[in-house]
Amino acid sequence: MKPFLKALAICVAGAFAVSYFTMRASAHDRITTKVSWDREISPIFQARCAGCHASGGRSTIPLTTYQQARPWAASIKEEVLTRRMPTWHAARGYGDFANDPSLSPFEIALVAAWVDGGAPERSDKGKGVRSDSVGAVSSAGSAYVVPRRKTTRTATLPCEEQPVAGRLLAVTPRLEKGGSSGIAARLPDGRHEIIAWIRNYDPDYPTTYWLRRPLVLTRGSRLVVESRGTCAIDLTFAR
Ligand code: HEC
Repeated sequence: MKPFLKALAICVAGAFAVSYFTMRASAHDRITTKVSWDREISPIFQARCAGCHASGGRSTIPLTTYQQARPWAASIKEEVLTRRMPTWHAARGYGDFANDPSLSPFEIALVAAWVDGGAPERSDKGKGVRSDSVGAVSSAGSAYVVPRRKTTRTATLPCEEQPVAGRLLAVTPRLEKGGSSGIAARLPDGRHEIIAWIRNYDPDYPTTYWLRRPLVLTRGSRLVVESRGTCAIDLTFAR
């Protein structure tokens, strides 16, 4: 055989061997978890991922069916454990938001267990039977109700220290791409209330952050904003 053909033959044989072994490996993936796509994972993805990971969504990667999600299993675990997904630009621990889509620690543990256990489509036990626990998963975050326009007023303010007063319901930062902003209020009694800390902002997808509990800013309160880059902020108050 000519050296070139010989090399080609080796390459082709190698490619076959690789695909043969990877096929075998996936066919022999040991399923070591009872967590399944049908029962636990799919409801979580419907509630927290499908908004972007479906056709026409913000992401080009659809994750609404088992067949779509399975090849991404390793990456899904990574994204969920590091909390890069679902995307949310408010830093954790600063403010508490009714529309925060983040997974609960329990949901994260379910996703990780599902991937580590071989990412099965259904659990052998009780095939096709939906457990009652599904409803308990992914209820937070989707339950909030945005108040009607008529009952609110919105003020657009520059990002600098200034007086504010009212019952604050939500903040909508207007930052440049990748911008960040720390938003707080100083109350007349000297207390500081952190409202939100927004990082790595994406102006293509403006987000309103609805406070889980309205913040009452009595007269004499001041808005304090630390930001990088150009910045304005919409504050939504109860009328
Ligand atoms: C607000 C929109 C949004 C939500 C909600 C969301 N994602 Fe994403 N996700 C994206 C975007 C945008 C990308 C970037 C890739 C692209 O352009 O498709 C991405 C990428 C990914 C990737 C690929 C990462 C890589 O390896 O490149 C995975 C996996 C993923 N998301 C999983 C999830 C899961 C799981 C959820 C739900 C728990 C979720 N995402 C929720 C917008 C979203």
